[in-house]
Amino acid sequence: MRLSPGLKKKYILPLVIIVIVVVLVVIAAVFFFTSKGQASAQQPINFPHEAMVAVGVQCLYCHSDATRSPSAGMPSVQKCMGCHQTIGTNQAPIIQLTNYWKNNQPVPWVRVYVLPRFVYFSHEVHINSGVNCETCHGDVAHMKDPITKPVETLDMGWCLSCHEKQPNASQLMECNVCHQ
Ligand code: HEC
Ligand code: HEC
Ligand code: HEC
Ligand code: HEC
Ligand code: HEC
Repeated sequence: MRLSPGLKKKYILPLVIIVIVVVLVVIAAVFFFTSKGQASAQQPINFPHEAMVAVGVQCLYCHSDATRSPSAGMPSVQKCMGCHQTIGTNQAPIIQLTNYWKNNQPVPWVRVYVLPRFVYFSHEVHINSGVNCETCHGDVAHMKDPITKPVETLDMGWCLSCHEKQPNASQLMECNVCHQ
């Protein structure tokens, strides 16, 4: 079938517009659904810090290395099961947790805050000089979803912006404090 040049002109513009609109809608839909799904998909269990902290479990009960070593540490399945053998046993995330425990597997939590290997950082020093968890990790006690993205970027400028305000700033700004 051949269209006359006049007809072609008449149809081509609406057609192009329709195609563009359809493509944009598809892209928007894909973007919407994938970004919505990510929040919980990134951690193996839907773990709400808020629920745990609300019942009085302290940060340091679970991240107990923070005051005595460079890393804060992650709780073992065993530690969770100390309570969850009896608490919430019929709830979906607790059933998942119990399955890891029965299979003798650690929960494969995805690390969120990670510095490059050439940077030295220590929780112990910061906690023992009175810097709060919240200063660097935000209001974790009120987070309803598992932590999947960092609150602070952890770039060098961020570290230095606090170090420069400390009484011993001249020492803390030395390159070899963080690059050993
Ligand atoms: C000191 C006891 C204790 C420890 C240890 C503990 N929990 Fe909990 N957890 C609780 C209590 C109490 C609740 C609130 C139960 C409720 O409201 O039904 C809870 C709630 C939860 C919930 C929310 C359940 C829901 O859907 O409402 C999840 C998920 C959870 N805990 C996972 C964990 C994981 C994972 C660990 C280990 C990293 C852990 N808990 C360690 C006591 C504990
Ligand atoms: C019941 C145990 C438990 C308690 C209490 C707890 N956490 Fe956690 N924390 C976890 C688990 C399990 C994860 C991994 C899942 C996630 O990322 O949400 C985690 C993840 C984190 C992370 C991200 C770690 C990473 O991957 O880089 C930070 C930061 C953190 N917790 C800080 C805190 C702070 C601050 C508190 C106190 C307000 C606290 N946590 C209390 C169990 C706990
Ligand atoms: C001065 C900032 C700062 C403070 C204060 C701080 N953190 Fe962190 N946290 C970090 C940085 C930076 C990392 C990444 C460390 C790395 O990759 O070596 C991290 C990593 C973590 C992790 C991941 C696992 C690990 O062992 O590294 C957890 C869990 C965590 N912090 C919990 C806490 C808790 C709980 C507190 C309070 C008791 C706290 N942090 C206080 C900066 C901080
Ligand atoms: C909110 C403030 C704050 C932030 C943010 C911060 N620091 Fe610090 N940092 C401190 C304080 C306070 C000290 C202890 C000062 C002292 O020696 O009295 C310290 C000390 C240190 C030390 C010295 C350790 C030692 O053995 O003496 C290192 C290393 C360090 N910080 C690395 C970092 C890195 C890396 C970052 C960024 C990822 C960072 N800090 C972010 C406040 C901060
Ligand atoms: C308080 C801690 C701290 C001090 C002090 C510090 N740095 Fe860094 N530096 C970091 C962190 C954290 C990173 C990684 C994050 C980033 O790239 O911003 C980094 C990254 C770097 C990088 C790699 C940048 C890149 O884009 O990959 C270079 C180069 C560097 N630092 C040089 C220096 C020099 C030179 C000094 C001294 C004048 C210094 N740093 C002092 C924390 C520090």
